[in-house]
Amino acid sequence: MRRALFPGSFDPLTNGHLDIIKRSLPLFDEIIIAVLNNPEKEPMFSVEERCAIIKEVLPDVKNGDCCLRVDSFSGLTADFAAEKGAAAIIRGIRAVGDYEYELRMSMMNRRLQPEIETVFLTAAEEYSFVSSSLMKQVFELGGRVSGLVPELVEERMRAKFGR
Ligand code: PNS
Repeated sequence: MRRALFPGSFDPLTNGHLDIIKRSLPLFDEIIIAVLNNPEKEPMFSVEERCAIIKEVLPDVKNGDCCLRVDSFSGLTADFAAEKGAAAIIRGIRAVGDYEYELRMSMMNRRLQPEIETVFLTAAEEYSFVSSSLMKQVFELGGRVSGLVPELVEERMRAKFGR
């Protein structure tokens, strides 16, 4: 059983995240999408809301033989991956700017859990500029994020802001 953890803030889930999930499907038997509960950050959506959104969007993903799960965690990603018996941590790289941070994180995660590999996947070009924080900023300032986040996410963002 090849199990992987795809950790992130997912505040909110974007089409870039979905693209990385779809690219990971043929590589693993099971992928746990792991939503970080970070009490230091003021999120747009609570961890429960983020998990619920992902669970509602995932049935639209043609996952073939790969089982997709959603979970939340606090603390270290590497430890959560080990606790779940994951062999790999999946991270998406959008552009070269992501690489340095991701490389440092993968080195640290390897030090913490030497048995777990980080697998980097490159995002589709059309999502190379898409980040949750940019989506939130643009939406909050009245801009459109259609096509960059799942429709359900846009709906939930509109509901949050009473639009
Ligand atoms: O979606 P993000 O915000 O880019 O995800 C970053 C995340 C959650 C993967 C990273 O911040 C993380 O792993 N946080 C958990 C705490 C941790 O393990 N820190 C050490 C990383 S080497």
